Amino acid sequence: MDLLDKCRVVGAADDARALGLYPYYPGSQGPAGHGQVLLDGAEVCMLGSSDYRALSSNPQIVAAAQDALALYGTSATGPRHQSGNLELHEELEADLAGFFGFEAALVFSTGYMANLGVVSCLVGRDDLVVVDERAHASLVDGARLAGANGARVLSYQHCSPDALAEALATAPGHPALVVTDALFADSGRAAPIARLVDVCARYGATLMVDESHGVGLLGRGRGIVHQSGVAGQVPLMTVSFGTSLASQGGAVLSDARTVDYLRHHCRPQLYSAGLSPAETAAAHASLREIRRHAERVPDALAAAERLRGALEVMGFGVEESLGPIIPVRFASEHAMLSAQRLLLDHGIYANAVLSTASAGHRLRIVCTDAHTPEALDAVIAVFGQLREDLIPRRRRPA
Ligand SMILES: Cc1ncc(COP(=O)(O)O)c(C=O)c1O
Repeated sequence: MDLLDKCRVVGAADDARALGLYPYYPGSQGPAGHGQVLLDGAEVCMLGSSDYRALSSNPQIVAAAQDALALYGTSATGPRHQSGNLELHEELEADLAGFFGFEAALVFSTGYMANLGVVSCLVGRDDLVVVDERAHASLVDGARLAGANGARVLSYQHCSPDALAEALATAPGHPALVVTDALFADSGRAAPIARLVDVCARYGATLMVDESHGVGLLGRGRGIVHQSGVAGQVPLMTVSFGTSLASQGGAVLSDARTVDYLRHHCRPQLYSAGLSPAETAAAHASLREIRRHAERVPDALAAAERLRGALEVMGFGVEESLGPIIPVRFASEHAMLSAQRLLLDHGIYANAVLSTASAGHRLRIVCTDAHTPEALDAVIAVFGQLREDLIPRRRRPA
Protein backbone atom coordinates (compact mmCIF):
# COMPACT_ATOMS: atom_id res chain seq x y z
CA MET A 1 0.00 0.00 0.00
CA ASP A 2 1.52 3.29 -1.14
CA LEU A 3 0.91 6.57 0.67
CA LEU A 4 -0.39 8.13 -2.52
CA ASP A 5 -2.80 5.28 -3.37
CA LYS A 6 -5.66 7.27 -1.84
CA CYS A 7 -5.15 9.96 -4.49
CA ARG A 8 -5.89 7.45 -7.22
CA VAL A 9 -9.19 6.19 -5.82
CA VAL A 10 -12.15 7.47 -7.84
CA GLY A 11 -14.03 9.99 -5.67
CA ALA A 12 -16.92 12.45 -5.80
CA ALA A 13 -14.92 14.96 -7.86
CA ASP A 14 -14.22 12.31 -10.53
CA ASP A 15 -17.89 11.27 -10.55
CA ALA A 16 -18.95 14.89 -11.13
CA ARG A 17 -16.35 15.24 -13.89
CA ALA A 18 -17.62 12.07 -15.55
CA LEU A 19 -21.14 13.52 -15.59
CA GLY A 20 -19.82 16.80 -16.98
CA LEU A 21 -21.09 18.54 -13.84
CA TYR A 22 -17.85 19.35 -12.01
CA PRO A 23 -18.59 22.63 -10.17
CA TYR A 24 -15.35 23.50 -8.37
CA TYR A 25 -12.40 25.64 -9.38
CA PRO A 26 -14.64 27.35 -11.94
CA GLY A 27 -13.01 28.25 -15.25
CA SER A 28 -10.13 30.52 -15.65
CA GLN A 29 -11.32 33.77 -14.14
CA GLY A 30 -10.59 37.13 -15.73
CA PRO A 31 -11.01 40.65 -14.38
CA ALA A 32 -14.04 41.19 -12.16
CA GLY A 33 -16.24 44.16 -11.29
CA HIS A 34 -19.86 45.30 -11.03
CA GLY A 35 -21.01 41.82 -9.99
CA GLN A 36 -19.72 40.27 -13.23
CA VAL A 37 -16.68 38.08 -13.89
CA LEU A 38 -15.16 36.60 -17.00
CA LEU A 39 -15.19 32.80 -16.75
CA ASP A 40 -13.30 31.13 -19.59
CA GLY A 41 -13.85 34.33 -21.54
CA ALA A 42 -17.64 34.48 -21.03
CA GLU A 43 -19.27 37.19 -18.91
CA VAL A 44 -21.05 35.68 -15.92
CA CYS A 45 -23.09 37.20 -13.10
CA MET A 46 -21.13 36.28 -9.94
CA LEU A 47 -23.57 35.09 -7.27
CA GLY A 48 -21.00 33.19 -5.24
CA SER A 49 -18.49 35.74 -4.02
CA SER A 50 -17.58 36.76 -0.46
CA ASP A 51 -16.77 40.28 -1.64
CA TYR A 52 -20.03 41.28 0.03
CA ARG A 53 -19.51 45.04 -0.08
CA ALA A 54 -17.97 44.92 -3.58
CA LEU A 55 -14.95 46.79 -2.25
CA SER A 56 -12.30 44.64 -3.96
CA SER A 57 -12.75 46.65 -7.16
CA ASN A 58 -13.55 49.99 -5.48
CA PRO A 59 -11.08 52.60 -6.85
CA GLN A 60 -10.37 54.01 -3.35
CA ILE A 61 -9.42 50.59 -1.98
CA VAL A 62 -7.33 49.74 -5.04
CA ALA A 63 -5.54 53.12 -4.75
CA ALA A 64 -4.80 52.53 -1.04
CA ALA A 65 -3.18 49.18 -1.90
CA GLN A 66 -1.21 50.75 -4.76
CA ASP A 67 0.05 53.58 -2.52
CA ALA A 68 1.19 51.10 0.14
CA LEU A 69 2.94 49.01 -2.50
CA ALA A 70 4.79 52.07 -3.81
CA LEU A 71 5.77 53.25 -0.31
CA TYR A 72 6.57 50.03 1.52
CA GLY A 73 7.36 47.56 -1.28
CA THR A 74 5.88 44.15 -1.94
CA SER A 75 6.62 42.34 1.31
CA ALA A 76 6.62 42.75 5.07
CA THR A 77 10.04 41.08 4.75
CA GLY A 78 9.67 38.71 7.72
CA PRO A 79 7.63 37.75 10.77
CA ARG A 80 6.15 40.64 12.76
CA HIS A 81 8.29 40.05 15.86
CA GLN A 82 11.42 40.41 13.76
CA SER A 83 11.75 42.58 10.66
CA GLY A 84 8.11 42.54 9.57
CA ASN A 85 6.28 44.86 11.96
CA LEU A 86 4.92 47.69 9.81
CA GLU A 87 3.25 50.87 11.03
CA LEU A 88 0.46 49.84 8.62
CA HIS A 89 -0.21 46.74 10.77
CA GLU A 90 -0.35 48.73 13.98
CA GLU A 91 -2.61 51.43 12.51
CA LEU A 92 -5.01 48.78 11.22
CA GLU A 93 -4.99 46.99 14.60
CA ALA A 94 -5.82 50.21 16.45
CA ASP A 95 -8.75 50.94 14.12
CA LEU A 96 -10.06 47.35 14.23
CA ALA A 97 -10.02 47.41 18.03
CA GLY A 98 -11.74 50.82 18.14
CA PHE A 99 -14.46 49.90 15.62
CA PHE A 100 -15.36 46.55 17.19
CA GLY A 101 -15.02 47.75 20.79
CA PHE A 102 -12.01 45.71 21.98
CA GLU A 103 -8.84 46.84 23.73
CA ALA A 104 -6.50 45.38 21.13
CA ALA A 105 -6.22 43.46 17.87
CA LEU A 106 -3.57 41.32 16.20
CA VAL A 107 -3.30 40.92 12.43
CA PHE A 108 -2.43 37.55 10.86
CA SER A 109 -1.50 36.59 7.31
CA THR A 110 -4.83 34.78 6.78
CA GLY A 111 -8.09 34.38 8.68
CA TYR A 112 -7.42 30.65 8.71
CA MET A 113 -4.16 31.19 10.54
CA ALA A 114 -5.81 33.56 13.03
CA ASN A 115 -8.33 30.87 14.00
CA LEU A 116 -5.90 27.96 13.95
CA GLY A 117 -3.31 29.91 15.90
CA VAL A 118 -5.56 31.44 18.54
CA VAL A 119 -7.43 28.25 19.44
CA SER A 120 -4.31 26.06 19.54
CA CYS A 121 -2.35 28.69 21.48
CA LEU A 122 -4.94 29.41 24.16
CA VAL A 123 -6.23 25.87 24.77
CA GLY A 124 -3.58 23.81 26.53
CA ARG A 125 -3.16 20.44 28.19
CA ASP A 126 -6.21 19.47 30.29
CA ASP A 127 -8.23 22.45 29.03
CA LEU A 128 -11.48 21.89 27.15
CA VAL A 129 -12.42 23.24 23.72
CA VAL A 130 -16.02 22.91 22.53
CA VAL A 131 -16.73 23.60 18.87
CA ASP A 132 -20.02 23.99 16.98
CA GLU A 133 -20.24 20.88 14.78
CA ARG A 134 -20.44 23.04 11.64
CA ALA A 135 -17.76 25.56 12.62
CA HIS A 136 -15.32 26.68 9.95
CA ALA A 137 -12.49 24.24 9.20
CA SER A 138 -9.89 26.62 10.63
CA LEU A 139 -11.62 26.56 14.04
CA VAL A 140 -11.98 22.78 13.92
CA ASP A 141 -8.32 22.40 12.97
CA GLY A 142 -7.28 24.72 15.81
CA ALA A 143 -9.21 22.48 18.20
CA ARG A 144 -7.61 19.34 16.70
CA LEU A 145 -4.18 20.85 17.22
CA ALA A 146 -5.08 21.69 20.82
CA GLY A 147 -6.25 18.07 21.15
CA ALA A 148 -2.89 16.84 19.90
CA ASN A 149 -1.34 18.91 22.71
CA GLY A 150 -3.44 17.20 25.38
CA ALA A 151 -6.63 19.26 25.46
CA ARG A 152 -10.05 17.64 25.54
CA VAL A 153 -12.00 18.39 22.33
CA LEU A 154 -15.79 18.19 22.07
CA SER A 155 -18.28 19.36 19.47
CA TYR A 156 -21.86 20.42 20.13
CA GLN A 157 -24.97 20.19 17.97
CA HIS A 158 -25.12 23.00 15.43
CA CYS A 159 -26.39 26.25 16.98
CA SER A 160 -27.76 24.50 20.08
CA PRO A 161 -27.11 26.29 23.42
CA ASP A 162 -28.60 23.28 25.27
CA ALA A 163 -26.14 20.90 23.61
CA LEU A 164 -23.33 23.31 24.46
CA ALA A 165 -24.42 23.32 28.12
CA GLU A 166 -24.43 19.52 28.14
CA ALA A 167 -20.90 19.42 26.72
CA LEU A 168 -19.61 21.95 29.24
CA ALA A 169 -21.23 20.06 32.10
CA THR A 170 -19.07 17.01 31.30
CA ALA A 171 -15.86 18.75 32.39
CA PRO A 172 -16.56 20.92 35.42
CA GLY A 173 -13.56 22.75 36.78
CA HIS A 174 -11.60 22.66 33.52
CA PRO A 175 -10.92 25.98 31.78
CA ALA A 176 -12.98 25.90 28.57
CA LEU A 177 -13.03 27.70 25.23
CA VAL A 178 -16.26 27.67 23.19
CA VAL A 179 -15.86 28.32 19.48
CA THR A 180 -18.43 29.24 16.84
CA ASP A 181 -18.92 31.13 13.60
CA ALA A 182 -21.26 34.11 13.96
CA LEU A 183 -22.83 33.58 10.53
CA PHE A 184 -22.27 30.17 8.93
CA ALA A 185 -21.11 30.71 5.37
CA ASP A 186 -22.65 27.59 3.80
CA SER A 187 -26.12 28.05 5.23
CA GLY A 188 -26.37 31.76 6.09
CA ARG A 189 -27.58 30.69 9.52
CA ALA A 190 -26.73 32.95 12.46
CA ALA A 191 -25.48 31.43 15.71
CA PRO A 192 -27.69 32.20 18.75
CA ILE A 193 -24.94 34.37 20.18
CA ALA A 194 -26.85 35.89 23.13
CA ARG A 195 -27.86 32.44 24.37
CA LEU A 196 -24.34 31.08 23.90
CA VAL A 197 -23.08 34.03 25.96
CA ASP A 198 -25.50 33.02 28.76
CA VAL A 199 -24.38 29.38 28.71
CA CYS A 200 -20.70 30.36 28.75
CA ALA A 201 -21.32 32.70 31.71
CA ARG A 202 -23.10 29.88 33.57
CA TYR A 203 -20.17 27.49 33.12
CA GLY A 204 -17.34 30.04 33.35
CA ALA A 205 -16.31 29.28 29.74
CA THR A 206 -14.64 31.73 27.35
CA LEU A 207 -16.50 32.40 24.08
CA MET A 208 -14.69 32.99 20.79
CA VAL A 209 -16.75 34.12 17.80
CA ASP A 210 -15.60 34.19 14.18
CA GLU A 211 -17.35 37.20 12.63
CA SER A 212 -15.95 36.78 9.11
CA HIS A 213 -19.38 36.73 7.44
CA GLY A 214 -21.16 39.27 9.66
CA VAL A 215 -18.62 42.05 9.51
CA GLY A 216 -19.41 44.92 7.16
CA LEU A 217 -23.02 43.79 6.85
CA LEU A 218 -24.88 43.36 10.13
CA GLY A 219 -24.81 45.21 13.46
CA ARG A 220 -23.91 48.49 11.72
CA GLY A 221 -20.93 46.80 10.11
CA ARG A 222 -19.71 45.41 13.43
CA GLY A 223 -21.21 41.94 13.04
CA ILE A 224 -23.67 39.63 14.73
CA VAL A 225 -22.30 39.97 18.26
CA HIS A 226 -23.13 43.69 18.12
CA GLN A 227 -26.46 43.03 16.44
CA SER A 228 -27.30 40.56 19.23
CA GLY A 229 -26.73 43.24 21.89
CA VAL A 230 -23.90 41.36 23.65
CA ALA A 231 -20.88 43.38 22.56
CA GLY A 232 -18.51 43.48 25.53
CA GLN A 233 -19.60 40.01 26.66
CA VAL A 234 -17.67 38.06 24.01
CA PRO A 235 -14.00 38.10 25.02
CA LEU A 236 -12.50 36.85 21.73
CA MET A 237 -13.45 37.65 18.16
CA THR A 238 -11.76 36.77 14.89
CA VAL A 239 -12.33 38.06 11.39
CA SER A 240 -11.05 37.19 7.94
CA PHE A 241 -10.18 40.09 5.65
CA GLY A 242 -11.25 37.93 2.69
CA THR A 243 -14.92 38.90 2.93
CA SER A 244 -16.25 42.45 3.35
CA LEU A 245 -12.78 43.85 4.03
CA ALA A 246 -11.84 42.91 0.45
CA SER A 247 -8.30 41.77 1.10
CA GLN A 248 -6.21 38.92 2.40
CA GLY A 249 -5.40 38.31 6.07
CA GLY A 250 -7.29 38.17 9.32
CA ALA A 251 -7.25 39.36 12.91
CA VAL A 252 -8.09 38.42 16.47
CA LEU A 253 -9.57 40.98 18.87
CA SER A 254 -9.53 40.75 22.63
CA ASP A 255 -8.27 42.46 25.79
CA ALA A 256 -4.75 43.90 25.72
CA ARG A 257 -3.16 41.19 27.90
CA THR A 258 -4.58 38.32 25.82
CA VAL A 259 -3.46 39.93 22.59
CA ASP A 260 0.01 40.51 24.03
CA TYR A 261 0.16 36.83 25.05
CA LEU A 262 -0.78 35.81 21.50
CA ARG A 263 1.88 38.16 20.08
CA HIS A 264 4.51 36.18 21.96
CA HIS A 265 3.14 32.61 21.95
CA CYS A 266 0.94 32.07 18.90
CA ARG A 267 2.95 30.04 16.41
CA PRO A 268 1.34 31.12 13.09
CA GLN A 269 1.97 34.70 14.24
CA LEU A 270 5.57 34.05 15.24
CA TYR A 271 6.65 31.78 12.41
CA SER A 272 5.02 33.31 9.34
CA ALA A 273 5.76 36.52 7.45
CA GLY A 274 3.67 39.58 8.33
CA LEU A 275 0.75 40.55 6.11
CA SER A 276 2.01 42.37 3.00
CA PRO A 277 1.77 46.18 2.85
CA ALA A 278 -0.77 46.22 -0.02
CA GLU A 279 -3.06 43.68 1.68
CA THR A 280 -2.87 45.51 5.00
CA ALA A 281 -3.67 48.85 3.39
CA ALA A 282 -6.59 47.39 1.39
CA ALA A 283 -8.14 45.89 4.52
CA HIS A 284 -7.69 49.20 6.36
CA ALA A 285 -9.19 51.26 3.56
CA SER A 286 -12.18 48.87 3.45
CA LEU A 287 -12.64 49.16 7.21
CA ARG A 288 -12.66 52.96 6.91
CA GLU A 289 -15.22 52.76 4.10
CA ILE A 290 -17.46 50.44 6.13
CA ARG A 291 -17.13 52.66 9.21
CA ARG A 292 -17.96 55.77 7.15
CA HIS A 293 -21.23 54.21 5.93
CA ALA A 294 -22.02 52.15 9.03
CA GLU A 295 -25.47 53.69 9.48
CA ARG A 296 -26.58 52.79 5.96
CA VAL A 297 -28.17 49.40 5.20
CA PRO A 298 -25.80 47.62 2.77
CA ASP A 299 -27.18 47.16 -0.77
CA ALA A 300 -26.20 43.47 -0.52
CA LEU A 301 -28.86 42.93 2.17
CA ALA A 302 -31.60 44.63 0.18
CA ALA A 303 -30.61 42.64 -2.93
CA ALA A 304 -30.65 39.35 -1.01
CA GLU A 305 -34.05 40.09 0.48
CA ARG A 306 -35.50 40.73 -2.96
CA LEU A 307 -33.92 37.66 -4.58
CA ARG A 308 -34.86 35.44 -1.63
CA GLY A 309 -38.49 36.54 -1.92
CA ALA A 310 -38.58 36.00 -5.69
CA LEU A 311 -37.08 32.49 -5.40
CA GLU A 312 -39.58 31.56 -2.68
CA VAL A 313 -42.51 32.69 -4.79
CA MET A 314 -41.20 30.58 -7.67
CA GLY A 315 -41.15 27.54 -5.38
CA PHE A 316 -37.43 27.03 -4.88
CA GLY A 317 -36.38 25.30 -1.66
CA VAL A 318 -35.06 28.45 -0.01
CA GLU A 319 -33.87 27.85 3.56
CA GLU A 320 -34.10 30.46 6.28
CA SER A 321 -30.97 32.58 6.41
CA LEU A 322 -29.65 35.94 7.46
CA GLY A 323 -27.60 38.43 5.49
CA PRO A 324 -26.52 38.15 1.87
CA ILE A 325 -26.39 34.33 1.65
CA ILE A 326 -29.40 32.49 0.19
CA PRO A 327 -29.20 28.70 0.58
CA VAL A 328 -31.33 26.77 -1.90
CA ARG A 329 -31.89 23.11 -1.14
CA PHE A 330 -32.05 20.35 -3.76
CA ALA A 331 -33.27 16.78 -3.40
CA SER A 332 -29.98 15.15 -4.39
CA GLU A 333 -26.39 16.00 -5.14
CA HIS A 334 -27.07 15.31 -8.81
CA ALA A 335 -30.01 17.75 -8.86
CA MET A 336 -27.87 20.41 -7.18
CA LEU A 337 -24.94 19.92 -9.57
CA SER A 338 -27.26 19.93 -12.59
CA ALA A 339 -28.84 23.18 -11.39
CA GLN A 340 -25.42 24.76 -10.87
CA ARG A 341 -24.41 23.84 -14.42
CA LEU A 342 -27.69 24.95 -16.00
CA LEU A 343 -27.44 28.33 -14.28
CA LEU A 344 -23.84 28.69 -15.42
CA ASP A 345 -24.83 27.90 -18.99
CA HIS A 346 -27.28 30.79 -18.66
CA GLY A 347 -24.70 33.23 -17.29
CA ILE A 348 -25.14 32.83 -13.52
CA TYR A 349 -22.50 31.44 -11.18
CA ALA A 350 -23.67 30.09 -7.78
CA ASN A 351 -21.65 28.02 -5.30
CA ALA A 352 -22.17 24.27 -5.09
CA VAL A 353 -21.76 23.53 -1.37
CA LEU A 354 -19.75 20.41 -0.66
CA SER A 355 -22.49 18.02 0.45
CA THR A 356 -22.57 16.14 3.72
CA ALA A 357 -25.30 13.76 4.80
CA SER A 358 -26.49 16.07 7.60
CA ALA A 359 -26.21 19.37 5.76
CA GLY A 360 -28.05 18.26 2.60
CA HIS A 361 -27.46 19.44 -0.96
CA ARG A 362 -27.44 23.16 -1.47
CA LEU A 363 -26.62 25.86 -3.88
CA ARG A 364 -25.35 28.94 -2.12
CA ILE A 365 -26.44 32.13 -3.80
CA VAL A 366 -24.75 35.29 -2.57
CA CYS A 367 -25.71 38.90 -3.24
CA THR A 368 -23.23 41.75 -2.95
CA ASP A 369 -23.43 45.54 -3.14
CA ALA A 370 -22.57 45.17 -6.85
CA HIS A 371 -25.90 43.56 -7.72
CA THR A 372 -27.98 46.49 -8.90
CA PRO A 373 -31.78 46.23 -9.22
CA GLU A 374 -31.34 45.85 -13.00
CA ALA A 375 -28.82 43.02 -12.56
CA LEU A 376 -31.25 41.31 -10.18
CA ASP A 377 -34.11 41.71 -12.67
CA ALA A 378 -32.01 39.74 -15.15
CA VAL A 379 -31.11 37.07 -12.56
CA ILE A 380 -34.75 36.64 -11.49
CA ALA A 381 -35.79 36.35 -15.15
CA VAL A 382 -33.27 33.52 -15.69
CA PHE A 383 -34.49 31.64 -12.61
CA GLY A 384 -38.07 32.09 -13.88
CA GLN A 385 -37.12 30.77 -17.30
CA LEU A 386 -35.31 27.73 -15.85
CA ARG A 387 -37.83 27.00 -13.08
CA GLU A 388 -39.35 24.03 -14.89
CA ASP A 389 -35.96 22.37 -15.23
CA LEU A 390 -34.62 23.30 -11.79
CA ILE A 391 -37.52 22.32 -9.54
CA PRO A 392 -39.05 18.84 -9.54
CA ARG A 393 -42.76 19.05 -10.42
CA ARG A 394 -43.99 17.70 -7.07
CA ARG A 395 -42.31 20.53 -5.09
CA ARG A 396 -43.76 23.34 -7.16
CA PRO A 397 -46.51 25.53 -5.67
CA ALA A 398 -49.92 25.36 -7.39
C1 LIG B 1 -15.90 31.67 8.87
C2 LIG B 1 -14.54 31.71 8.24
N1 LIG B 1 -13.48 31.85 9.03
C3 LIG B 1 -12.23 31.87 8.53
C4 LIG B 1 -12.00 31.75 7.17
C5 LIG B 1 -10.60 31.74 6.66
O1 LIG B 1 -10.29 33.02 6.22
P1 LIG B 1 -9.15 33.29 5.14
O2 LIG B 1 -9.74 33.07 3.80
O3 LIG B 1 -8.79 34.73 5.42
O4 LIG B 1 -8.03 32.38 5.45
C6 LIG B 1 -13.09 31.65 6.31
C7 LIG B 1 -12.87 31.53 4.86
O5 LIG B 1 -13.34 30.61 4.23
C8 LIG B 1 -14.40 31.61 6.85
O6 LIG B 1 -15.47 31.46 6.06
